[in-house]
Amino acid sequence: MLALCCNWCSYAGADLAGTSRLQMPPNVRIIRVNCTGRIDPTFILDALYQGADGVLISGCHPGDCHYSTGNLKMRARFALLQNLLEEAGMDSRRIHLQWASAAEGDVFAEGIRGMVERIKELGPSPMRKEGK
Ligand code: FES
Repeated sequence: MLALCCNWCSYAGADLAGTSRLQMPPNVRIIRVNCTGRIDPTFILDALYQGADGVLISGCHPGDCHYSTGNLKMRARFALLQNLLEEAGMDSRRIHLQWASAAEGDVFAEGIRGMVERIKELGPSPMRKEGK
């Protein structure tokens, strides 16, 4: 599973979850981006196409984005992406958007745990190729 985290809040939240030794499933790869507003929808589609079973996007709470409205743009894109996935026959629960501040390591860890549980219920991505 892939987690795309904004540098300013959620990546720091992920760091806090780690230093607080909160339990998180190990099957998540975290990639830091400057802001969720920087996440092109093709990044998410490409990750799913390449075989990721799910993609979690985590950013600053609305009103706290360091670039003002990047997370609001992501929220709008996310709704479109959910529709797109459903239209393509893929369960939109394979993607998840959450807000987690730098002080919310517990929120971040809970988001990861919830996403992994959902993905386990859904099973491997239908786009996953043999050997990936
Ligand atoms: S800087 Fe965190 S979502 Fe924009």
